[in-house]
Amino acid sequence: MKVNSIILSAFFIVILIFCGFETMNSPIIQQKPDPNQLKDKGIGPIKALKLTAVDQKLADKGSDLFDSKCAPCHHIKDVNLGPALKGVTKNLAPEFIMNYLMNTSEMQKKNPYVQKLIGNWKTVPMMKDQKLKEKDARAVLEFLRTQQ
Ligand code: HEC
Repeated sequence: MKVNSIILSAFFIVILIFCGFETMNSPIIQQKPDPNQLKDKGIGPIKALKLTAVDQKLADKGSDLFDSKCAPCHHIKDVNLGPALKGVTKNLAPEFIMNYLMNTSEMQKKNPYVQKLIGNWKTVPMMKDQKLKEKDARAVLEFLRTQQ
């Protein structure tokens, strides 16, 4: 009986330790949307972008680009190596998203929102310099607009 309860306690301690490590290693909870963040256009070539109704053909092209360039790190609904991107166009300005895809490393050095994001995701590799061409960044943005 006594031996049994020692084994049982040891078992629970091991579980607790593993759960603790799990929390330490897992990336943070998704950043909460901040309405003021929508005003931030980021740093890069896209200064102003007026969006109209979703262009499904462009979104389909963006979806292919997303699968090859982004999906290794991003899922839409779940956290992967990077944050889930569902609804991201509601939290970030379209100019910001395009600039981040075209001018990643400068924004990582200078943009306060991105720096906070990196701080939160320090357990995973940082988003590499994507250096997307403008038309590709625009297509990926269109795809993200369809993923609300
Ligand atoms: C090597 C992994 C990796 C790749 C590839 C990658 N990302 Fe990221 N992405 C991240 C990580 C990690 C973060 C959070 C930290 C940061 O910004 O560096 C992030 C952040 C973002 C954000 C900001 C999300 C938020 O919650 O504010 C967007 C938008 C984004 N990525 C879009 C993309 C798109 C679109 C692509 C493909 C063109 C892409 N990423 C490719 C890892 C990646």
